[in-house]
Amino acid sequence: MQQGTIRRNKDGHLEIGGCDAVQLARRFGTPLYVLDEEDIRRRCRAYREAMATHAPGGMVAYAGKALLCQAICRLIAEEGLGLDLVSGGELYTALSAGFPAGRILFHGNNKSPAELEQALRAEVGLIVVDNEAELEVLSELARAMTRKPRILLRLTPGVEAHTHQYIQTGLEDSKFGFGITDGRAEAAVKRALALDSLSLTGFHCHIGSQILDLDGFEAAVGVMAAFLTRMRDELGFIAQSLDLGGGLGIRYTDADNPPSIGEMVRRVACALDKACQTAVYPRPRLILEPGRSIVGEAGITLYTVGAVKDLPGLRRYVPIDGGMADNPRVALYQALYHAELADRPTAGKTSVVTVTGKCCESGDILIWDIPLPNPKFGDILAVFSSGAYHYSMASNYNRLPRPAMISCFRNQADLIVTRESYQDLVRLDCIPARFNGAAEALELMAGAGE
Ligand code: LLP
Repeated sequence: MQQGTIRRNKDGHLEIGGCDAVQLARRFGTPLYVLDEEDIRRRCRAYREAMATHAPGGMVAYAGKALLCQAICRLIAEEGLGLDLVSGGELYTALSAGFPAGRILFHGNNKSPAELEQALRAEVGLIVVDNEAELEVLSELARAMTRKPRILLRLTPGVEAHTHQYIQTGLEDSKFGFGITDGRAEAAVKRALALDSLSLTGFHCHIGSQILDLDGFEAAVGVMAAFLTRMRDELGFIAQSLDLGGGLGIRYTDADNPPSIGEMVRRVACALDKACQTAVYPRPRLILEPGRSIVGEAGITLYTVGAVKDLPGLRRYVPIDGGMADNPRVALYQALYHAELADRPTAGKTSVVTVTGKCCESGDILIWDIPLPNPKFGDILAVFSSGAYHYSMASNYNRLPRPAMISCFRNQADLIVTRESYQDLVRLDCIPARFNGAAEALELMAGAGE
């Protein structure tokens, strides 16, 4: 599959950012998250340029939940984007990397008072308020800290995006935001305007993720614009910013045909312009929060193939040295992936195989029924489109150390996240004093066996 700088080199090996994937696997070990830095930068620029063309003054805030570490924060800062963060941990990561706080949007449907305080102390650019209680806590904290944060209210526009149910978020029956039709949104606007320690600057919505059909975004613009107009007419409030979240889908397999970044921004911005013209409303600053469409296709994961298991008449299992611990998306969303052997050309005889992980679950299957050129023990397998929601959702299930992550750019590969060691796995473990009689316990066990 052709993506970014990923191609076959003269040895028939897969290459990314000019780096030979087989050499990367040898040098850094597997499983290995590999990023195509040029592709990430190109996508950041595509968003920025499309915004400059279609919604001047707008902001693109990369959604860190897709993939975040200090190096990514630096890259996003360099590319001139903002950052959408959802937890104290993400905020800490960004600030520790020196990311400019003024370009941070702070999200979350259940921010703790400590997280809100952290955001206020850092003076982040915008706080997206999710619910009534948060409005009160934030206003109290802001008063006590003599701050006046700029806030957006998160609304649920009741728009159905065509995507997996777990990643649809704009529906009214949702754990996120204030409902428009049930009157909670309007009540929140009135309350926010009455709180003089908060500065209400606009609204936010996010209709879902991995969206391949742009109609949902246009529908969301329509609902949000109608709400904006009503708030102006009823309360005299004019929104300065309108944040339409993230959600643009990517290509996981050849069956996916996502719209381009430019097309997505153009459609959303045009819909907003049109709605504002009709309502004679001053066009608010457009904010977008793309995650997956910036890093998703720019990542591959390299694995080493283990002992292939042939079940005659049934299936051929090809186990790899990772699985649901480094990629939980198949188990969670039945996600589909494309994969290729990195160490052998794609041409030639293939057989249909099932790629399995090494976790102790029958459901730890990465790819069902994919044609591959007869994978053998020791081959390097590359799973494509693994830049978003892989590393960020990885776990230590079965005490598997999390893989390293590298960034490849113009023939150079740099480590950006170190591979976890076994020492890291036990680093936070504690053994209470009363468990310390290991020798005694062994004696007891021996006694019980007598
Ligand atoms: N803004 C908000 C408020 C969000 O909730 C999300 C994603 C984004 C932006 C970024 O959306 P994106 O452009 O990446 O689609 N773990 C799931 C995806 C969960 C998305 C959660 N919210 C997956 O692996 O498919």
